[in-house]
Amino acid sequence: MVRPGCQIRKIRYLDLFKLRRLFKRALDLDFNYFPDNYLKEVDGQNTIFKLFTAKIRPNRILVGAWDNDKLIGYIIGHMTSKKLGQIFWLFVLPNYRGAHIGQNLLNTALQSFRDQSIDHVKLVTHKYKDYYLSQNFYQEKFYPKLIGDIDMYLMAIDLNKIP
Ligand SMILES: CC(C)(COP(=O)(O)OP(=O)(O)OC[C@H]1O[C@@H](n2cnc3c(N)ncnc32)[C@H](O)[C@@H]1OP(=O)(O)O)[C@@H](O)C(=O)NCCC(=O)NCCS
Repeated sequence: MVRPGCQIRKIRYLDLFKLRRLFKRALDLDFNYFPDNYLKEVDGQNTIFKLFTAKIRPNRILVGAWDNDKLIGYIIGHMTSKKLGQIFWLFVLPNYRGAHIGQNLLNTALQSFRDQSIDHVKLVTHKYKDYYLSQNFYQEKFYPKLIGDIDMYLMAIDLNKIP
């Protein structure tokens, strides 16, 4: 259950500007440990144009969490041609954390993968290894200093093996 007033649903075309704004805010708020050049690259990969292109593609997952018409979180993922699911970004605004909104976003994305007969989903994280462990992911690899000085964990989930 998401908290009252909150809703999880696919990002629509008209929501893309809100998604772009929240994405920028998330980079400032929670991803500023990455080196500046990497942040610039990520920013460039998620311009309004790139998000629009992602929305057109059937192999992309763009789901938002809403407090009425305020976008308060999102998950962005991708399905490869080799039937691998990838999660690129998961974010919930600080004031809304701890209310299972992240979990609902994650489960919605995982269900979309399942619906496409995708059983293996992967992501990389710096700070949230324990969070993903608590969500039935396992640690597949550890990459020390993968991005500048930043260590990253490759996390994976086998959707066949979870309830
Ligand atoms: C990661 C994030 C999306 C989680 O969102 P959230 O809505 O606060 O998380 P949830 O409320 O769904 O948490 C689900 C469970 O995980 C637990 N949890 C939350 N953060 C955790 C952490 N850092 N480590 C371990 N467990 C954690 C919660 O306590 C909850 O447990 P419960 O089911 O026993 O109550 C949010 O913290 C966030 O946006 N962080 C900054 C952005 C970021 O770094 N994203 C991850 C990039 S890979």
